Formats: sequence, structure tokens, C-alpha cells
Amino acid sequence: MVDRNVAERLSSNSAFALELEGVGRQFGALVALADVNLRVQAGERRAILGSNGAGKTTLFNAVTGDFPPTAGRIRFFGEDVTNFPVQERIRRGLRRTYQISQLFAGLSVIDCVFVACRGVSRSRLSLLRPGAQDATMAQARAIARSVHLDDILDAPVSTLSHGQQRQLEIALALTGAPRFILFDEPAAGLSPAERRDLVAILNALPAHIGYIIIEHDLDVALRVSSYVTMMHNGRIFKEGAPAEIEEDEEVQAIYLGEGHG
Ligand SMILES: Nc1ncnc2c1ncn2[C@@H]1O[C@H](COP(=O)(O)OP(=O)(O)O)[C@@H](O)[C@H]1O
Ligand SMILES: [Mg+2]
Repeated sequence: MVDRNVAERLSSNSAFALELEGVGRQFGALVALADVNLRVQAGERRAILGSNGAGKTTLFNAVTGDFPPTAGRIRFFGEDVTNFPVQERIRRGLRRTYQISQLFAGLSVIDCVFVACRGVSRSRLSLLRPGAQDATMAQARAIARSVHLDDILDAPVSTLSHGQQRQLEIALALTGAPRFILFDEPAAGLSPAERRDLVAILNALPAHIGYIIIEHDLDVALRVSSYVTMMHNGRIFKEGAPAEIEEDEEVQAIYLGEGHG
């Protein structure tokens, strides 16, 4: 069943946001990632599951260029970006979430999102404060609303709860026309209520924005993805629909047996 789905997906002609071919990454003698073949369609929402040290974050680092692969090719919307610098991938619409920099601590939520929007817009050199009608400010407000921060637009970033900071990180990833976002354990440290909020935020993202989410919380992962990739020891060992993965005995033994979820 899993194999047939994979075959159908690989033979489809639709555009791929991301294609990895034989991707590997070594750190000295350590093989963190080996022969990874992965295809994610434009607009697709994919979960990557796997135990600690499986190579999930290394895979993200290879895709963003933070730690480029030592083997294989990576294509982003058809373009070979394997050796592109990080900034060139961002320019093409690839995003990942980063922890909020201390530089932003003194700003309000809306100013923080506004600065990020302006940073990628044509008027980035403008030093004028925007009026309420300013298009970039309107965009910033819409993004803040989409991550459920519209009630605290004027709160200083330094006063945000852990969950609200995670939401702000997603807001920053949404600035400047993203086409594909990499989320690395966005639910880590969130309360049950904040997790529900996160699931709602991800499921309400514009349909053209695809993502990969690395997530230990199986409940979150399976609610926000349409397809799941399992990793172990730097390799992909299984792919399938959320329901198939949830019921898979091998997955349960490797993944759930370690106390995650
Ligand atoms: N920058 C690095 N330098 C050396 N080893 C690394 C580096 N990043 C990751 N590793 C190693 O690669 C393996 C995979 O790590 P990682 O991708 O972080 O796993 P995961 O995110 O699935 O928990 C681990 O053994 C880890 O110690
Ligand atoms: Mg990791």
C-alpha cells in the first residue's frame, strides 16, 4: 500500500517544490545523512518523523544551505540550488523558522513583523515611519493576524510567552512571499492549548505555501500533514499517509517505543 502510493507520487507530472537526489551529509567520519531521495510537491504539507539523531535537522540544514550536502543534488522548484548560498534560497521563497533574535526584544510585535516585511520589500531603505494606510504595514497586520497575534500587536517582543514567541517566529517566516517553509519542532515546549493553536495556524496557511514539519508530537504531525516521511540513522526508511504511518508496527517500535509523542 505504501509502495503503491510512492510509485503514484513519483510518476505524477506535477511541479515539485523540493527534490532531493542521493543527498548525504558527513561531519568528519560521522554520516549524519545518507542517500536521501525525497520529493515534495508544490503546496504539499509533509511531516518528517524520526528519533533523536535521525538526521532530520541535518536534512533541513542541507536544504537551506546552512550546512550544504556533501553528496547528492537538491532542486527547489526545478532549479538546482545544491551549492547556492543561504540568501539565494531565501530569495527564491525558501524559509525556515529561526529563534527570535535578541535584537528584536525591544520592538513591539507589529514593528517586528513590519521590519521583516520591509526587509524584503522594495522600500527597505526608507527610513520614514509608515502611516496606517501603508501597504507594508497592512501586510504585517495580516501576517500577525494569521498567526493569532492580533490581540497583542503593541506588546513588546520581550514580554511574549514561549508559545507567542513561536507564533512570532512563524510570522517572520511568512514575510516576503514564501513558497516553502521548513518547521523544526515548532510544538516543542508548547502547552496543549498552544498546540491546538499551532495546528489551526498551520492548517490555515495559504494553499500555495508548502512545508515540511519535523515534529516529535505525533498528534500534531499527523494533523498538519498529508504525507509522512520516516527517518532513522540518517536514512529514509518509510513513507506513507498519516493513517498508514500511525498504524505501522515498525514505526511504532522505532518511534513510539522511545517515549516520544
Ligand atoms: N554541525 C554538526 N557537527 C557535527 N555533527 C553534527 C552536526 N549536526 C548534526 N550532527 C550529528 O548528525 C546526526 C544527526 O543529527 P540531527 O540532524 O540534529 O538529528 P535530528 O534532528 O533528527 O535529531 C547526529 O549524530 C548529530 O550529532
Ligand atoms: Mg533536530
